[in-house]
Amino acid sequence: MSAHSNHSVSSAQTAVESDLLLQKAREIASQFEIPEGYLQKAVDAYIAQAADSLNQDLERGIPMIPSYVSRAPTGDEKGVLIALDLGGTNFRVCSIELQGDSRYGMIQSKSQVPTEIMTGSLTSFINYLSDRIEEFLIKTHPDHVKKAKAGSKEIYRVGFTFSFPLKQISANSGTLIRWTKGYDIEEAVGKDLPQILQKELDARKLNLFLAAVVNDTVGTLLTRAYTKPKGCGPTIVGCIFGTGTNGAYSEPLANVKKFDRGVHPEVVDDDMVINTEWGSFDNDLKILPNTKYDAQLNLNTPNKDFHMFEKRVSGMFLGELLRLVMVDLYEQGILFTSSEAKQKLTKDSPLYTPWSLNTATPAAFHGDTTPGLDQAREHIVEKLGFEPTLEELQAIQVVAKSIGIRSAYLSAIPIAGALLHSKALDKYDTVDVGADGSVYEKYPGFHETIMEGLAKTDIGAEGIKRISMGIAKDGSGVGAALCALQFEV
Ligand code: BGC
Repeated sequence: MSAHSNHSVSSAQTAVESDLLLQKAREIASQFEIPEGYLQKAVDAYIAQAADSLNQDLERGIPMIPSYVSRAPTGDEKGVLIALDLGGTNFRVCSIELQGDSRYGMIQSKSQVPTEIMTGSLTSFINYLSDRIEEFLIKTHPDHVKKAKAGSKEIYRVGFTFSFPLKQISANSGTLIRWTKGYDIEEAVGKDLPQILQKELDARKLNLFLAAVVNDTVGTLLTRAYTKPKGCGPTIVGCIFGTGTNGAYSEPLANVKKFDRGVHPEVVDDDMVINTEWGSFDNDLKILPNTKYDAQLNLNTPNKDFHMFEKRVSGMFLGELLRLVMVDLYEQGILFTSSEAKQKLTKDSPLYTPWSLNTATPAAFHGDTTPGLDQAREHIVEKLGFEPTLEELQAIQVVAKSIGIRSAYLSAIPIAGALLHSKALDKYDTVDVGADGSVYEKYPGFHETIMEGLAKTDIGAEGIKRISMGIAKDGSGVGAALCALQFEV
C-alpha cells in the first residue's frame, strides 16, 4: 500500500515536471514566433537596405554585388566546360557537357574540405583546390592534360562557383569581403582568390581558363532559367537555402549607382545579375527577431555581427539554435532529467559541443508525426546516447518547429523583396523562382511555409498563385558552366 502511494506521488510529481517543461518549451517557442503584420514591414526594410547598397558599398549593409552576368540562357547552349564548386564543406570539380535543348551531362568528383584547410593558410587552401582539380583532370581528361603539359594551346573554359561574399572586379576576378559558414582563412580576406587560383593552375600547366567566377545563387538563377519546366514564367530570383542562404536577381544598371559603366566598357547589356548576399540583411538588427539564443549563437561564430539574417535562417544554424535551447532547459533542471541522461551529459558531450547538431535535428523533430515521436527519439539516442522520455521529445518538438517555421517565414522576406522591388508581378502573368540547398530540399514543409510567408506580404494570397517556385538542381555546376560560356577567352 505504502509502495503504491509512493509511486503515485512520484508520478504526480513527474506529471507536474513535464507540464512545467512543456509550458517552458511553449514560452521559448513563442519567442521564435513571427507576429502578424511583421513580414511586410520586414520586406519594406529589406527593400530600403538593398536600395541603399545599390548606391554605395556599405560596410554593414547588404553587399548587393554586381556579378557581371547579364544574359539568361536560352536552353540551346552547347559545349564541354569545367565547373568548380566551393560553397561549404565540399569542393566539387565537374566536367559538364551542355547538350542544348535544356539538357546536360555531368561527371564530377567531390571532396570534403578538411577543417585545417578551412581555417589554415591561404597557400594550403589554394594548393588543396588545385590538387583536386589536377587529379580530376588527369582522371577524366587525360589527353587534355598530356597535351597541355607538352605545350598545346587548347584550353578548357572554367566556371568557378565560389559561394562566399566576393566583391567582383570583373567576370573572373574579385576580392573576398569576408568568410561565412565556418571558414576562417584570415590572410585570404581582401585578396583576389579567383586570380590566385588561376596563377596556380597556370603554374601547373593545366590549360584551364577561369572565365567566370559566380556565386551559387547566380548559378541557380541561370540553371533554373535553363531547365525550368515548360510553361513557367521568367525566372526572377535564384536562391539558396542550404548551409548558408542568399539570392540573386537581375537589376537595371541604371539603378546600380555604385557601378561605374565608364570603367567597364566591356559591359554592354543594360541589366546585370546582382548577388545580393542577403545573409547580411539587417546586420544591425533593426527589425530581425533576436532571442537570447540568437545572441548566444552569434557570439560563437567567426563572422560575429555579420550575416545576421543567415544566422536565423540557414542550415548551419538551425541545429545550433535548438542545441542552445536544450542546454538552457537542461540547466534549468527540467529537460533530460533521468539519471541515464545526467550521466551522459558531461561538459564534453555533444549537447555541450557547439555545432554538434545540424539541421537534421530540428528536421527530425519537425517531420515526426508518429504518436511516440519515434524518429525524433532515434535521432536523440543516436546523437546524445540516451533514451529521452516522450514528454521531453514533445517539448523539444515544440521548440524545433518554432525554429523551422521562423526560418521559412523569414526566407520569404528577401524573395518578396526582390519580386516586389522588380515589379515582376506587374510585368508578367506568371513569374518563377529557382531554389536549391539542403534546407529547401529536405526540411519538412519548408517550401510550403515560404509560400505562406509570401502570401502574408503585399504579394498576397492571390499573388502567390502566379508564382512558381521550384528546385534548380545543381546551379553550382551547370550554372557556372553557363556563365563561363558568356565570356571571351
Ligand atoms: C554566402 C553566399 C552563398 C550562400 C549560400 C552564404 O554564406 O555568403 O555567398 O551564396 O551562403 O551558399
